[in-house]
Amino acid sequence: MSSHTRIILVCSGKGGVGKTTLTANLGIALASQGAKTAVLDADFGLRNLDLLLGLENRIVYTAQEVLEESCRLDQALVRHKQESNLSLLPAGNPRMLDWLKPDDMQRIVAMLSEQFAYVLIDCPAGVEDGFKNAVSATKEAIVVTNPEVSAVRDADRVIGLLNTHGVKPVQLVLNRVRPKMIASQDMLSVEDVTDILALPLLGLVLEDEQVIVSTNRGEPLTLNGQSSPAARCYTNIARRIQGEDIPLIDPSKEGSGMRDKFRRLMQTKIF
Ligand SMILES: Nc1ncnc2c1ncn2[C@@H]1O[C@H](COP(=O)(O)OP(=O)(O)OP(=O)(O)O)[C@@H](O)[C@H]1O
Ligand SMILES: [Mg+2]
Repeated sequence: MSSHTRIILVCSGKGGVGKTTLTANLGIALASQGAKTAVLDADFGLRNLDLLLGLENRIVYTAQEVLEESCRLDQALVRHKQESNLSLLPAGNPRMLDWLKPDDMQRIVAMLSEQFAYVLIDCPAGVEDGFKNAVSATKEAIVVTNPEVSAVRDADRVIGLLNTHGVKPVQLVLNRVRPKMIASQDMLSVEDVTDILALPLLGLVLEDEQVIVSTNRGEPLTLNGQSSPAARCYTNIARRIQGEDIPLIDPSKEGSGMRDKFRRLMQTKIF
């Protein structure tokens, strides 16, 4: 499987834009679509992928013990209870940051590539060593950004660095999109952001309070096919990663208009 494994870095530059949430939801979605998937927490300083996946109490070993060869990879991998195609390799102690090198990340990812069809790497914010280590081990990348000027500027910087490192393809996910704010011209539109960053758009994720609820529960929205606006967005992104041709949602058609009401009624088969 090794050479066919898709190794995808989820990065952003700016902190708090939704990398870990996207990694957790895509991991569950890809796994539920039948793909053996590993998620690697490369945010050694402030790990929280384990929390979002509800796996924090099941961690015995981490990437650190694997690298130190005091345990085997399969002893450190935490398999998701409901979605057995998904495994997490937890981040080790933050002190690892003192000695971790690109070689170490490459070793870990090479080991994961032998067992999994997808390896998703949850990158730390910033463009310092944590980012550089993670970039050195990846083939392709998803840049997550929000429709905000500061997030877009940081994304632009990261895209430059990904190009320098020869990472390809690099695709964009625009997270926390609010159709009403775009309509009232209080938020950058999808076209504004894609024009500035000149990257292919892999998908949009709508602003959705269910994301916060699911984070607190440790149950990603894509688990059990939960159907909230963001869950649909994450599922579509996973299907596009798998090569399906799924049309992008049009934010101007999302919201509370009559058209939406009609569509919902059609879906519940009242007619
Ligand atoms: N589409 C969304 N709608 C609403 N809230 C969201 C959405 N996406 C992310 N959030 C919220 O934004 C916050 C930051 O998300 P997350 O931790 O995934 O970001 P991050 O980029 O991994 O942050 P860091 O850089 O600190 O690692 C969380 O509270 C999360 O619930
Ligand atoms: Mg994070």
